[in-house]
Amino acid sequence: MKKKKLIPVFYPDYGKKEEKAIVDVLRSGWIGLGPKTEDFEQKFSKYMDAKYSVAVNSATAALHLALLAAGVGKGDEVIVPSLTFVSTVHAVMYVGAKPVFADIERDTLCISVNDVKNKITKKTKAVIPVHYGGLPCDLDSLQKIAKSRHIIIIEDAAHACGSIYKGKKIGSLSDYTCFSFHAVKNLATGDGGMITVTDQKTSEKLKRLRWVGITKDTWGRIEKVLEHGLASNRGYGWYYGVHELGYKYHMNDINAALGLVQLAKLDMANKKRRAKAEYYNEHLNGVGDIVCPVLSDVESGTVSAQHNYVIRTKLRDKLHLYLRKHYISTGVHYMPIHLQPFYRNIFPNVKLPVTENEWKKVLTLPLYPKLTRVEQDYIIDRIKEFFKNK
Ligand SMILES: Cc1ncc(COP(=O)(O)O)c(C=O)c1O
Repeated sequence: MKKKKLIPVFYPDYGKKEEKAIVDVLRSGWIGLGPKTEDFEQKFSKYMDAKYSVAVNSATAALHLALLAAGVGKGDEVIVPSLTFVSTVHAVMYVGAKPVFADIERDTLCISVNDVKNKITKKTKAVIPVHYGGLPCDLDSLQKIAKSRHIIIIEDAAHACGSIYKGKKIGSLSDYTCFSFHAVKNLATGDGGMITVTDQKTSEKLKRLRWVGITKDTWGRIEKVLEHGLASNRGYGWYYGVHELGYKYHMNDINAALGLVQLAKLDMANKKRRAKAEYYNEHLNGVGDIVCPVLSDVESGTVSAQHNYVIRTKLRDKLHLYLRKHYISTGVHYMPIHLQPFYRNIFPNVKLPVTENEWKKVLTLPLYPKLTRVEQDYIIDRIKEFFKNK
């Protein structure tokens, strides 16, 4: 097959339903935070078996607000992996706490629970595990340690929308779970995020924090305002109180309208991702020095949302260039955060042997619901060709 059009590494799964949803919301006259956002929150909670969902404009915002709501701040330490997107770690810095890097498991690339244990100090307030690529990390062990040491778990589920851990949805298992609806995620709204929580008071606090600290108060408070002569009748409804320093992190109804359509398609889209990942594994196992990723563990009821497909090879950079020459995009997820200049300057002595060894080998191949079998075969053939000529 001669391929001239570039095969992207990610591609959104949009169609006529998303187009209609956008047109409808534009015509409704209400595009800000409103009924679509509320509907999306409710349907998301139902899908996730979560008690409460709070919609925000990114997972970065979700992580920031979760840390704030959990009371994490100056003087606290938060344990994080380094093989992640920078927001996982930036969020800790936003609240003035110290990120403490833990290493990863060699097979899954998820945070190593043993190393989390090593990194716990009296100052440890929270841990942010990342379900790398959508494969849930060892939550049982993490929860055991967290419980015994009074540590809060804030799951970074940016890759794990629709993932299942031992029969339960990611989003229903911890005090805080943060999702991303960024343009290339499994559920994509352009940008967006969600925090699922177990407690009503926390969800209310998060709703204030995402909306610059504004409380849309009860009638009781309005009456108080009336007493002070600030409003002349109930119909005004203009009054609100600002009781804390919040942020402008809310979702709007345009993103939520897209989110509702994408949520309805999520299971089917994830199923397609998993089938394509299995196909890659079948055909790439044993090719050159390739190590294929660990996929879902159906026996234990653990299912990956399969956000991406990451192989490992010592020839990563050469393979990347070879595939690029053949119009195939690949990515690297990720260069470790502790090696990024900003963090290396602040924390020059961090050593994470597994992370530092494995990241040099990771290469993300194209994976998305619309990737065709012809394209996938073309990618597999080029990879085989590359190793044959080595
Ligand atoms: C693991 C991880 N955490 C957090 C984020 C941040 O998500 P967002 O772009 O929605 O802020 C991402 C996005 O790529 C991610 O991959």
